[in-house]
Amino acid sequence: MEAILLVGGQGTRLRPLTISTPKPLLPTAGVPFLAHQLARAKAAGVKRIVFATSYRAGMFEAAFGDRAYGVDLVYACEDEPLGTGGAIRNAARALTCGSHEPVLVLNGDILSGHDVVSQVALHEKAGAAATLHLTPVEDPSRFGCVPTDGRGRVTAFLEKTPDPVTDQINAGCYVFRRDAIDAIPPGRVVSVERETFPEMIASGAVVMGYVESEYWLDVGTPQAFVQGSRDLVLGRLESSAMPGPPGELLVLEGADVREGAAVGGGTTVGRGAVVEPGATVTGSVLLDGAFVAEGATVRDSVLGHDARVGPGAVLDGVVLGDGAVVGPGNELRGGLRVWPEVELPATAVRFSADA
Ligand code: GDD
Ligand code: MG
Repeated sequence: MEAILLVGGQGTRLRPLTISTPKPLLPTAGVPFLAHQLARAKAAGVKRIVFATSYRAGMFEAAFGDRAYGVDLVYACEDEPLGTGGAIRNAARALTCGSHEPVLVLNGDILSGHDVVSQVALHEKAGAAATLHLTPVEDPSRFGCVPTDGRGRVTAFLEKTPDPVTDQINAGCYVFRRDAIDAIPPGRVVSVERETFPEMIASGAVVMGYVESEYWLDVGTPQAFVQGSRDLVLGRLESSAMPGPPGELLVLEGADVREGAAVGGGTTVGRGAVVEPGATVTGSVLLDGAFVAEGATVRDSVLGHDARVGPGAVLDGVVLGDGAVVGPGNELRGGLRVWPEVELPATAVRFSADA
């Protein structure tokens, strides 16, 4: 089976990390995020993948070349981003399969433990034009809300509606019959969520919902990205792309966790990163060369390449861009994102218990 992987988004919600690296290539549990998807696709029987690229397109080929994780790779780049549907149509030029064969299409920012083989089997059995993986979530308004009828047929596609009619959402993994992709208008911006699926449903095409609530996460926000990495390291989602066995922490080659440092909760310590004695790091991602000084506390945070956390500083739910510096004693909490150019000086934001 062939697949199309959508990786052209700008990853704006993950800035400043995505200034230098596109979201799908951010190191996640020691490998580029996409490695986990490639390994899963291979396990589901995918032999060849077309990457639908746009933002920083060249970096994908540089990272994976023409074969990785047992899958052949080709690249279809958009000069201007064509939207999700336009990207699928553009990438289809590189497919080799026949018009009735199934093609797997994946959003490039999803970690999922669902059974792709069963999804394809349902698609074939129903003779569907498209079959969508659907999963229940707590806040469906942030996703594509997808109601189905008693036989699993999709009855509507409501992208990011304030009034969701069900908690069942589009999980970003589709099986398309090839000719349904070829029917998408070429050469212009198309949203598969707002245009293609609603039109297919309106025209009476068979669009099926494959509902499965195995592990599922969209890593598009800093919080979710940290959670995804943590879950992989802890083994809550199995991935054969992991460079080591699951456990409390993943320490990559050349990292230096000094004696007397407390590191755990699914933390990844990148190559050349250093955690000094007396520092505590929990559930976080330290990219290559990051530095955590003595007595500092880092929780549920991402430290970009060569970012530095000064002695005694506290970071909780924070993203530090590449090379960003937090001076001694600072306390940063709750969704702050520190840009590389910003250097927070010593004691700029210091709260003490008796203040
Ligand atoms: N090539 C290309 N060109 N890829 C694109 C483009 C484009 O113009 N626009 C977006 N993508 C890629 C992104 O890189 C990502 O992998 C995928 O398409 C989805 O885009 P997101 O920006 O992550 O969308 P979302 O998370 O807000 O919503 C989508 O995913 C949800 C599930 O996580 C929708 O498909 C929702 O319906 C769905 O519920
Ligand atoms: Mg997304």
